[in-house]
Amino acid sequence: MARVLLIGANSYIGKRLLPALARHDITATYHTRPNSEFKQQEALDLTNKESVQEVVKRIRPEIIILAAAISTNKSEPALIQQTNIDGVQHVADAVRASAPDTRVILFSTEQVFSGAKESYAETDTPDPINEYGRSKAEAEKIVQQLTRYLILRLAAVQGPILEGEHDNFLSLFLSDKELTVFDDVYRAPIYVEDVISIIASLIDKKREGILHLAGDDFLSYAAMAEQIEAVYQTGREFSVAPCHLAEVPRRLHLGNAKLKKLGFSLTAYADLVQQTHAQRA
Ligand SMILES: NC(=O)c1ccc[n+]([C@@H]2O[C@H](COP(=O)([O-])OP(=O)(O)OC[C@H]3O[C@@H](n4cnc5c(N)ncnc54)[C@H](OP(=O)(O)O)[C@@H]3O)[C@@H](O)[C@H]2O)c1
Repeated sequence: MARVLLIGANSYIGKRLLPALARHDITATYHTRPNSEFKQQEALDLTNKESVQEVVKRIRPEIIILAAAISTNKSEPALIQQTNIDGVQHVADAVRASAPDTRVILFSTEQVFSGAKESYAETDTPDPINEYGRSKAEAEKIVQQLTRYLILRLAAVQGPILEGEHDNFLSLFLSDKELTVFDDVYRAPIYVEDVISIIASLIDKKREGILHLAGDDFLSYAAMAEQIEAVYQTGREFSVAPCHLAEVPRRLHLGNAKLKKLGFSLTAYADLVQQTHAQRA
């Protein structure tokens, strides 16, 4: 059992991680929306340096899980900077001041890469092309100054969502929102259930360093749409087109060889869709 501070208890991933970490002594934080299923939680604004210092000094966590972030490129650049860079700096400063042996687990993203290379390994140097990716690349540098850290670069996470949660491609496809599916944007999506079990195991094994969390299948969003439609048979309307957004990496393959070498197996995309469908039925 470890003393864990989970920052971002109501994030899509944080909320699902909480039950998987039940055997630990967890203090969880939220910013604007408390997690309705978890009692031991408090409000914390990452952008408030004093508050971050106070909570780290009081709890002296052995592990800090930094799930909170502005997790989209569609937000204001200033807010992305304050939350994803300054906020992480506040955590790093607080750790150095009050709990230098704390292991900080940062959730980063495939978006630290541009997609210029055929596939990316953990040893590759980030070359982001959007604000979100740039902010996470900076956050990675900050965390790498600490004594103990684990940086998890996540590919696009997919799975079912609950009311009020942001969409992923699968949930978006199943919604009635207007949809254009890019046929020239490729990713290696990972099932949310895999993400949770892998993170829980990495925490138990006290892993450190940088690790990519990505699925085995590298496919275009058009191919994902085909697979989802084959299972759900929604008959929904959507258009298929090339992406015209400069800030969206096209063929971005986050390699998962290191993850597999550690003994983890990943749910195939077709099974991800099937399992999500089975949960809804
Ligand atoms: N989901 C994905 O596909 C994916 C892919 C790659 C990387 N990631 C990374 O994984 C992490 C979790 O992603 P997610 O999709 O689960 O996140 P999410 O659902 O978008 O939630 C982000 C959380 O950050 C919190 N937050 C925002 N501003 C804050 C602040 N100033 N102080 C404290 N907390 C703040 C929010 O708290 P409140 O709700 O309380 O306001 C929210 O719950 C993020 O770092 C994200 O960048 C996610």
